[in-house]
Amino acid sequence: DLHADLVVVANRLPVDRVTNPDGSQGWRTSPGGLVTAIEPVLNDNDGVWIGWPGGTDEAMEPFTDNGLHLVPLSMSEQEIEEHYEGFSNATLWPLYHDLAARPEFHREWWDTYQRVNRRFAEKAAEVAAEGGTVWVHDYQLQLVPAMLRELRPDLTIGFYLHIPFPPGELFQQLPWRRQILEGLLGADLVGFQLAGAAQNFIRLVRQRVGHKTHRDLVYLPDGRTVRATAFPISIDARGLDELSRTESVVKRSEEIREALGNPRKVFLGVDRLDYTKGIYARLRAFAEVIADGHFDVDDAVFVQVAVPSREQVETYKVLRDEIERLVGRINGDHGKLGQPAIHYLHSSYPREEMAALYRTADVMVVTPYRDGMNLVAKEYVACRANDDGALVLSEFAGAADELRQAWLVNPYDLNGMKQALLDAYRAEDRELGRRMRAMRKTIRQHDVAAWADSFMSSLAEVRGAHRKTL
Ligand code: UDP
Ligand code: G6P
Repeated sequence: DLHADLVVVANRLPVDRVTNPDGSQGWRTSPGGLVTAIEPVLNDNDGVWIGWPGGTDEAMEPFTDNGLHLVPLSMSEQEIEEHYEGFSNATLWPLYHDLAARPEFHREWWDTYQRVNRRFAEKAAEVAAEGGTVWVHDYQLQLVPAMLRELRPDLTIGFYLHIPFPPGELFQQLPWRRQILEGLLGADLVGFQLAGAAQNFIRLVRQRVGHKTHRDLVYLPDGRTVRATAFPISIDARGLDELSRTESVVKRSEEIREALGNPRKVFLGVDRLDYTKGIYARLRAFAEVIADGHFDVDDAVFVQVAVPSREQVETYKVLRDEIERLVGRINGDHGKLGQPAIHYLHSSYPREEMAALYRTADVMVVTPYRDGMNLVAKEYVACRANDDGALVLSEFAGAADELRQAWLVNPYDLNGMKQALLDAYRAEDRELGRRMRAMRKTIRQHDVAAWADSFMSSLAEVRGAHRKTL
């Protein structure tokens, strides 16, 4: 029996069950920034992680992987379709990302979302020690805080949203807006990436639920106080910096440049294959810069890593087709024998390979239409131990609030992006050094350990204040 003082609850476990080509079962690291951020935190804390192991396997026993205690919560095919692919990723994901796609509203999806949230809450109630702390993560589980409080009023409950929280005008479209707000208010502390998101939430709670608020505090009728504040997430900056300097990564980086045909400059994009990421527009911008005659494939190539993601959801299928057609057209128009303009990789790579890619890239291109934070941008900076390399970054990524010295772009403005790609390509060493040093200082000071500490101490403070008034 597990009785943990710290329980992390997330839709996904840090490892994902996969079926190998020969039919055998294996594990690999789960995709996405949530896992990247939480894993080092829990590693230092000896907690338990509850999550879905991927796939539709029958119930699995808790197990330990890499020192982490994992409690798998299985999902049926229907739950995957209606909770994960449906409500989470075809309703909430586009709605919370500025309508980057059209959200679909289905009552059956909402029913299943509630049911799955309840199962997560019940599992957390079972696993958490008396008076322990439960930290619930992300948009797939917004009802868990209130459900869990109902079951276990002794617990301290934190919630963190890894993606943007939309302005009221958009949130109001949701037929179940009030239930979502009330679900989140079950937590003692609700954390967001940016201050604007926290303000959106507070305003909605005041206007839609009718609770009193003051600054970042919500006063509930039962005397409880909930705090809603921004805690911008980060990465293990020191660990990545060290990794990027290891002999094997340095050597691998040289091999990559060689394999690309030793161009003068390497451009890089790394994203889950998601319509919020602006992959299509960035590749078009790059191709137009070539077409305008500013450089050719001897001068510059683009490496785009597109990690397979949510492949059963229709909008993701359509996006994949569009991007792959575009890559084919660009390479047909601008490539030479053995020298494509775009090196497109529909695959996912381990940390070491990522570090080598970041080390190789002269220009990192991150152009989402909307992104909670975007850890890739921060990881690139962490891997530039020589204080060089250019970051082209969308204004609409949370990371743009901190990485002010990037070449900031509006991803809807194709000419602006072309100009930024060209400016980054042409930038001189002194300019690159000045910008990169400032950004490296920012991420060193604000790494993922600092993020977790600040969330946890704020959580303890809110709860402590509440205990005193009881
Ligand atoms: N990533 C990875 N292997 C890959 C591509 C990406 O490990 O082949 C990681 C990347 O290093 C980063 C995370 O996936 O830590 C993506 O996080 P981000 O916040 O940029 O975007 P998200 O996928 O969460 O929307
Ligand atoms: C983003 C979300 C995470 C999610 C990840 C991968 O980082 O904030 O909650 O786990 O993408 O997406 P997936 O649908 O594969 O879990």
